[in-house]
Amino acid sequence: MEISDELLNYEMLKYKFALNMLETEIKILIDEYEFQNKYNPVEHIKSRMKSKESAIKKLQKKNYEINLFNLTHHIHDMVGIRIVCSFVSDIEDIVKMIENSKQIKIKEKKDYISHPKKSGYSSYHLIVYVPVYLNNKEELVEAEIQIRTSAMDFWASLDHKIHYKFPTEIPEEIIKELYNCSLTIKTLDNKMSILNEIVNKYKDETKF
Ligand code: GTP
Ligand code: MG
Repeated sequence: MEISDELLNYEMLKYKFALNMLETEIKILIDEYEFQNKYNPVEHIKSRMKSKESAIKKLQKKNYEINLFNLTHHIHDMVGIRIVCSFVSDIEDIVKMIENSKQIKIKEKKDYISHPKKSGYSSYHLIVYVPVYLNNKEELVEAEIQIRTSAMDFWASLDHKIHYKFPTEIPEEIIKELYNCSLTIKTLDNKMSILNEIVNKYKDETKF
């Protein structure tokens, strides 16, 4: 069964509102955090909405019939936001910040930092519900928030580009080398955290 254009466009509108709502709420939470801590934990934020075409492709790939039920129940990243920060401790703070949000409700947490994927992928994911208001009625729309350090982001974009270059099968040698790079990234993140702690120690002492 195919989805009628009218219904699909209405659903896409909800996703668009959810993305706006999520972006605004995240920005407010970060501004508040910065005000309280005199420190902004965010390097940059990227957000996107999945297109109708790639949503349909994803359902087909997962062997689901193309209908609205499957779209809303089996695709959890129609709305996506990625928060990139410097240190692993920033990720923990951002997760706490979102947990305390009155608007965003957490559905699921996926900690690929404590438990990286087989590929070496590391990030913290939250699947959340965002309220949107249509015809004066509140509806909860799902969204995916990815939180990672700059180093993890560097690895993930390289991995993504390589997958693009080898759409069928990636040579084993490349998979191995990517995994090795992920270990180096983890070591680098740990070293950066130590460096940050040392800087903070001096900051506390000199109050600069
Ligand atoms: P889908 O992959 O979206 O079907 O859902 P899932 O349940 O497998 O979610 P998961 O948390 O594993 O992945 C969701 C998203 O995380 C993906 O769309 C990517 O953006 C990112 N991701 C997961 N694994 C990898 C990986 O090995 N490499 C890269 N570059 N990104 C990944
Ligand atoms: Mg996946």
